[in-house]
Amino acid sequence: MVLLSHTGDSPDSRQKADSTSAPEITVDPGNMVHLASPGHHQRCRQSRQWQRILIEDPRPKSPLHLVENSDSYTTSVYGSRFAGENLPKVEMPETEMPKEVAYRLIKDDLSLDGRRGREAHGRVLFKNFIDYEEYPQSADIQNRCVSMIGRLFHAPVASDGSGAVGTSCVGSSEAIMLAVLAMKKRWKNRRTAAGLSIDKPNIIMSSAVQVCWEKAARYFELEEKLVYCAPDRFIIDPEQAADLVDENTIGICVILGTTYTGEYEDVRAVSDILVERKLDVPIHVDAASGGFVAPFISPELEWDFRCEKVVSINVSGHKYGLVYPGVGWVLWRSPEFLPQELVFNINYLGADQASFTLNFSKGASQVIGQYYQLIRLGKREPPPGQQLHHHVQTRRRGLPLVAFRFKDDPEREYDEFTLAHQLRVRGWVVPAYTMAPHTNKMKMLRVVVREDFSKSRCDNLIADIKLSINFLDNLDRESIKKHEAYVLRHNTASGRATHNPLPTLQVLG
Ligand SMILES: Cc1ncc(COP(=O)(O)O)c(C=O)c1O
Repeated sequence: MVLLSHTGDSPDSRQKADSTSAPEITVDPGNMVHLASPGHHQRCRQSRQWQRILIEDPRPKSPLHLVENSDSYTTSVYGSRFAGENLPKVEMPETEMPKEVAYRLIKDDLSLDGRRGREAHGRVLFKNFIDYEEYPQSADIQNRCVSMIGRLFHAPVASDGSGAVGTSCVGSSEAIMLAVLAMKKRWKNRRTAAGLSIDKPNIIMSSAVQVCWEKAARYFELEEKLVYCAPDRFIIDPEQAADLVDENTIGICVILGTTYTGEYEDVRAVSDILVERKLDVPIHVDAASGGFVAPFISPELEWDFRCEKVVSINVSGHKYGLVYPGVGWVLWRSPEFLPQELVFNINYLGADQASFTLNFSKGASQVIGQYYQLIRLGKREPPPGQQLHHHVQTRRRGLPLVAFRFKDDPEREYDEFTLAHQLRVRGWVVPAYTMAPHTNKMKMLRVVVREDFSKSRCDNLIADIKLSINFLDNLDRESIKKHEAYVLRHNTASGRATHNPLPTLQVLG
């Protein structure tokens, strides 16, 4: 067994290894990385230094074992092949890279940020993302993310080399506000140029939209034209969406993974119908959750800039983008879809910079976190059959999400909300909700399957659902009511605390 030490990379430890006494081998697993480079493995095995360690170390063998794969071995970050390669800047790498390597290389890149500040204050406290002059590396990292996500979403590249434009946001809500503003502005500019009325802009969307769409419509004074769901259809009907288009339509929202059931709306069908009917209306795809799922799990599914009518797309970094809240992204197919009036050029932070977000200051860490995840994980799919997604059997195309409800049963004294309360007592937060309008007030429960939802966690959840149903089956109507009231009184959002009752909230509106 070969133990490589982190300190072995320093000149000091190299001396130790070359001296005649038995070398000190310090193993710091936190600094060890597994690499996939068979040639490198061979070279290191042959090096004099490691041979000496193998021969001369008289101590009992360490319980640490190398990965058995013939193409894996362990070394420090700077000894890895990644240290000699360019960091990915334009396209997500095809394969993953070890986490220590991604972390260290990004950290080195960022060391240029705020140098003057460090000289002045001794250390850099927090990076304000908006300060491009002080933190140019953070701004560059945002550009790399936009480029990678644009390519992931098949943004076309024009003959002059120009392509998608985009920005990071606090989340999909901000991204959607910006995209709606851009669609409204383009519609308004066109109508004004033609001498037509601009009094009644409208936007078309499914009744299953997330609340941020209703906010956008209200804040930006747009009439909402809803394509209603039906008891057997929880996503937009492409024909109905096209039927609603009129001269005042600024755009159509199509969702890649609805909040209610996780199902993908059919972007390709909506785009094709618009082309077929020669309707000059843009599509914005709300890919808040699906944008970081579909490209990897269903690469053949055409939902992005491959569809002619799609002009902008949003995605949340803090959902399946695997970054802490809040980061989101909005991208436009090309600069013509982002009216220049929405882009502010300022220079009060020391350099000319463009800003087209609703907020000004924000932390840079989430953008950096997003870049880390993009280069750390790469595009590679796990081997067939090992994808968590494939274990979640979905009836329709969509996110790894299970939405379920009770069968209609007039004898049952409790509903999905009661089950959600009961699960809360056992520590599970499984939200119950009423479906979108026009679905007979259907109630549902929803489990969003994320990375940490292991088989054993799944078994525990199912066991707790069974136990809870059993418990509720044995209660009469009166006891269920009392039980619900008790659960509501004694559980905060954590599902466990029985102290500090919730403060009375004043409901606005
Ligand atoms: C489909 C959809 N759009 C938009 C949003 C809002 O996203 P964010 O929380 O990133 O603002 C969500 C959040 O649940 C969503 O599911």
